[in-house]
Parts: sequence; C-alpha cells; structure tokens
Amino acid sequence: MSIAVCPGSFDPITLGHVDVVRRALTMFDRVIVGVAQNADKRYLFSPSERLALARASVEHLPGASAEPVDGLLANFVQEVGASAIVKGLRGSADYDSEQAMALLNRHLSGVETVFIMGDSGLGHVASSLVKDVAAHGGRIDDLVPAPVARVLTRKDTND
Ligand code: PNS
Repeated sequence: MSIAVCPGSFDPITLGHVDVVRRALTMFDRVIVGVAQNADKRYLFSPSERLALARASVEHLPGASAEPVDGLLANFVQEVGASAIVKGLRGSADYDSEQAMALLNRHLSGVETVFIMGDSGLGHVASSLVKDVAAHGGRIDDLVPAPVARVLTRKDTND
C-alpha cells in the first residue's frame, strides 16, 4: 500500500488543491491531506475549520482523507508510513520556497517530495486570492469546493 501526504495550510482548500490530490491518487493508493501550520501565516480559518473543510472536500475521492499535522511534517510522514510528500506547483513563483522545504523534509525524514503540475486552468487559484475575491463579494463557487464556498461566503459577511 503506497501512501503520500499532501501537506499545506489549506486556508481554505481550493479546487487547485483537490485537483492535485486527485492526480496524486493515480500514483499512490492513499493520499492523506495533511492540514498543518505555517509559522509565517495568519489564518482566516481555525485549524479545526481548515481540517473539516479539507475532509468535506476530498471525501468523494476513494483513497483520500485529511488529517491534522500538529508538529513537524517530517515526523508526521514517518508516523503514517508515507513514501512521498506531494505538492502542487502552479509555476516558478512557488519553486524557491518549495525547494527549501523539500530538501529540509528529506533531510529530517528521508522522504522525497514529488511535485505535480496541476490543471493549467486552475493555476491562478491560490487560497489568498480566493479570500480576497470573497471579501469583495466576487464569485468563488468555481474556485473552491462547494463546502468551502458556503462557509467562506457566510464567514465573510458575518466578520
Ligand atoms: O500551504 P503552505 O502554507 O505553503 O504550507 C506550508 C506547510 C504548512 C506545508 C509548512 O509550513 C509545514 O510543513 N508546516 C509544518 C511544520 C514543519 O514541518 N515545518 C518545517 C517545514 S520544512
């Protein structure tokens, strides 16, 4: 049984992330969406909200699940017996930070990071941009999974 971990902040999960998980499932038996904390970021959604939205957004994909990553990703991938970390690359802007994380995670865990080019039609879909579109009342239902669109629209009007 081959297992991959697809880690990120998922604040919130987008259709771009779900596309990467779907593609990863063509190469791995199980893909665990690892909902982690990035020390450099302030989040709109709490860890439990980000996890619940990730779960609701991948439950239709056989073999996919979502789990919290409470400490180091390197420890988590070892605990679950993953043979790879999978990340989506939207373009060259993602490359530098991803290269540093891939090398550090390999140093700490021995687990390789595999990069997947997502759907070119979703290359513009970043969580930060989606939140900004929602905050200004723009349409997001073709950028994020339905459970996220519902919560993001409500959260935005209530906050
Ligand atoms: O979606 P993001 O914010 O680019 O994801 C970054 C994330 C959350 C995957 C990264 O910050 C992470 O792995 N955090 C967990 C703690 C950890 O392992 N830090 C060292 C990373 S090399």
